[in-house]
Amino acid sequence: MNNASLANLLHEERRFAPPAALAADANVTADAYEKADADRLGFWAEQARRLSWAVAPTETLDWSDPPFASWFADGKLNVAYNCVDRHVENGLGDRVALHFEGEPGDSRSITYAELQREVVKAANALTELGVHAGDRVAIYLPMIPEAVIAMLACARLGAPHSVVFGGFSAEAVAARIQDADAKLVITADGGYRRGKPSALKPAIDRAVTKCPTVEHVLVVRRTGGPTVWHGGRDVWWHDIVDRQSETHTPEAFPAEHPLFILYTSGTTGKPKGILHTTGGYLTQVSYTHHAVFDLKPETDVYWCTADVGWVTGHSYITYGPLSNGATQVLYEGTPDTPHQGRFWEIVEKYGVTILYTAPTAIRTFMKWGDHIPAEYDLSSLRVLGSVGEPINPEAWVWYREHIGGGRCPIVDTWWQTETGAMMLSPLPGVTATKPGSAQLPLPGISATVVDDDANEVPDGAGGYLVLTEPWPSMLRTIWGDDQRYLDTYWSRFEGKYFAGDGAKKDEDGDIWLLGRVDDVMLVSGHNISTTEVESALVSHPAVAEAAVVGANDPTTGQAICAFVILRGTASESDALAEELRTHVAGELGPIAKPKRILTVTALPTTRSGKIMRRLLRDVAENRALGDVSTLTDASVMDLIQAALPTAP
Ligand code: WT7
Repeated sequence: MNNASLANLLHEERRFAPPAALAADANVTADAYEKADADRLGFWAEQARRLSWAVAPTETLDWSDPPFASWFADGKLNVAYNCVDRHVENGLGDRVALHFEGEPGDSRSITYAELQREVVKAANALTELGVHAGDRVAIYLPMIPEAVIAMLACARLGAPHSVVFGGFSAEAVAARIQDADAKLVITADGGYRRGKPSALKPAIDRAVTKCPTVEHVLVVRRTGGPTVWHGGRDVWWHDIVDRQSETHTPEAFPAEHPLFILYTSGTTGKPKGILHTTGGYLTQVSYTHHAVFDLKPETDVYWCTADVGWVTGHSYITYGPLSNGATQVLYEGTPDTPHQGRFWEIVEKYGVTILYTAPTAIRTFMKWGDHIPAEYDLSSLRVLGSVGEPINPEAWVWYREHIGGGRCPIVDTWWQTETGAMMLSPLPGVTATKPGSAQLPLPGISATVVDDDANEVPDGAGGYLVLTEPWPSMLRTIWGDDQRYLDTYWSRFEGKYFAGDGAKKDEDGDIWLLGRVDDVMLVSGHNISTTEVESALVSHPAVAEAAVVGANDPTTGQAICAFVILRGTASESDALAEELRTHVAGELGPIAKPKRILTVTALPTTRSGKIMRRLLRDVAENRALGDVSTLTDASVMDLIQAALPTAP
C-alpha cells in the first residue's frame, strides 16, 4: 500500500497539553518510557508484580519458538483471586465493585465482599455441574452482574470461557460452541433492549441441538418471561447457585493456563478463536488500565460502555478494572432508552470520573445534539477514553468540549482482540494530545509503520501498522489452528506482527490509524483511506456521520461512494451533495472527491461499534447483501435500501 499520496493531506494542528493537576499526580510519568526502553523485559517483570502470585515467576519471556510466546511461565496465580479475593483480604470488602444499572431503571450496587461470595457460589455450582479446569464454558448473557460473575467463576476454576455477544444468532453461537467444544452454556431467559424484554434462551435452545458436547444450560432469570424448559439439561442459576457454600479455595494455575477464547469475525472465513492466557494477560490489562486511565481506585468511578461480549468488556470491564480494585458502572442497555440523555444521567447519578466509549457512540451523541449532554452535571469526569475505530478529529473535539467540559484529556486507545490489551495510546498525565491520533506505543510496547517491503517508513509517510516485539497480553494462537495463527499475523512481514490496519506517521512521528487494510480504496491507482475521507466529511457542519466505500468503477477501478447522516438542521439536496464533494476535495485533494453521496438515516454497525463497510459496498455495487448476522440491528439495511435511488 502507498498512502504517501495522502499522507500530508489531513492537517491537524491542534494540541492539548495534559491538565497540570493531573500531570502532577499522575500514576505514570514520562520516565516510564525511558525505563521500558532501557529494559523492556525488566519493565514487564516489574508490572507483573502488580499481581498476587501463588508462585512468583522467575522467568519473563520465552521466545525460543516464535511466534509462540510464553510469559512468566514458571509463575502460578489465580485470576479470580486477583480480581476479587485479594481486595477483600486487603480490607476493601466494603468498596463497591459494580454499580449495576439495568435498562428498565433497576439498580444494584455490589461490593467486593458480595462479589466474592457470588463468584465463590457460582464456582461451586459450576463444579457441581461437572466443570473442571481446562473445560470450556460458553457464556451468552446480557450486560448484567452475572456476566462478570460467570466469567470470574470460570477463571477461578481454570475453565476457559468463550463469551458470545448476546446479539448473535443461533447459528453464530452454535459455530462458536462447536469450535470450542464447550461443555456448559450460561445464558439468561432474556435481557432488556430498547425498552422491551428480549429473549435469549430460544437462540441457545436452537444452537445446542447442534452441539453434542453441551451437557447443561445454566439459565439466569432476568426478565421472568415465558421460557421453554429442557428438564435434565437446563438448570436455573438461582436454583443451583443460591444454595452453594460460600467458601471455595482458589487453585493457582500456571501463567500460561488458558483464560478465554474470544471469536473475531474477520471479513471472510470461519471466525477465529483468539486464545488468551492468564499471567501475561492480567499483567498488561492491569497495568494499562492503571496507566492509561490514571485510575485512583479509592476515589474514581469508572465506566466502560462496551459489552462484555467483546474484548473491551473482557479487558476493561472484567479483568483490568477488577484486578485494580476499581469501582465501576455496569449498564445493561442502549444509550437512548428511555431517552437520549441516558448516558449523561448515569454519569451524573454515580459521579463517573473516567468514561471509556467508542467513536460510533460519540458521533451518535453529536447527531442528537449538544443540548442533551448540556442538561446534565458532567463535572465529575476527568479522563475520557475512545476505542474501536479511528476517531474523527471533529468527533474528538466534540467529545472534549461537550462531554469533557474542555478540561479532560482524551486517550484514544488502539488495540485488538488479538492484542488483549491497549497497545497505542497517549498517557493522560504525559502526552500533549492530537485530535484523531492514537499517537504512540505505550511503555513496554514496540510498534511502527512499515511499507510493502517491511521497511520502516519515514515520518510523514504511510503504510501498515506492525508490532515488532512480543507483548505480555498477546494472543497465544488461534484455538485449534496454529497454522492460521502463523498465516494471518506472522507471515506478511517476517518476524513482525501484522495488525491488518493501515497507518501513517505524521511529521512528529506520531501514528495515525487509517482503518483496516481491507477498507482501503484504490482509485485511479491511488490508495485512499476510508477513514480520512470520512473524517473530511464529518468536518463539514452539515454531516453527523459518514461511511465511505470503494465501489467497482469501469474507469477508475474503484469510485468513492459516501453514505452520510446529516445533522439535525441540514436537509438533503443536490446542492449539499455537491458542496460536500467540493469540501472533501478541498480537505484531501481532488483524487479523494466522492463520486456519489447518499444520504441515509442510519449506518450498519456491529455490536462492537464498527461500520460494516462490506454491506455498504454490496449496496453501492447493487447486489444482494452478504451476512448481516453480526449487525446490532439488521433492519438498518432495509432502511438504507429503501431510502436510496437504485444504484446505476
Ligand atoms: C480493530 C480491532 C480494541 C478493542 C475493540 C476492537 C480498530 C480499535 C482503534 C483506535 C483506530 C482502532 C482497528 C483494529 N481499532 N481501536 N483507537 N483507532 N482503530 O477490537 O474488534 O478486535 O478490532 O479495531 O482496526 O485492528 P477488535
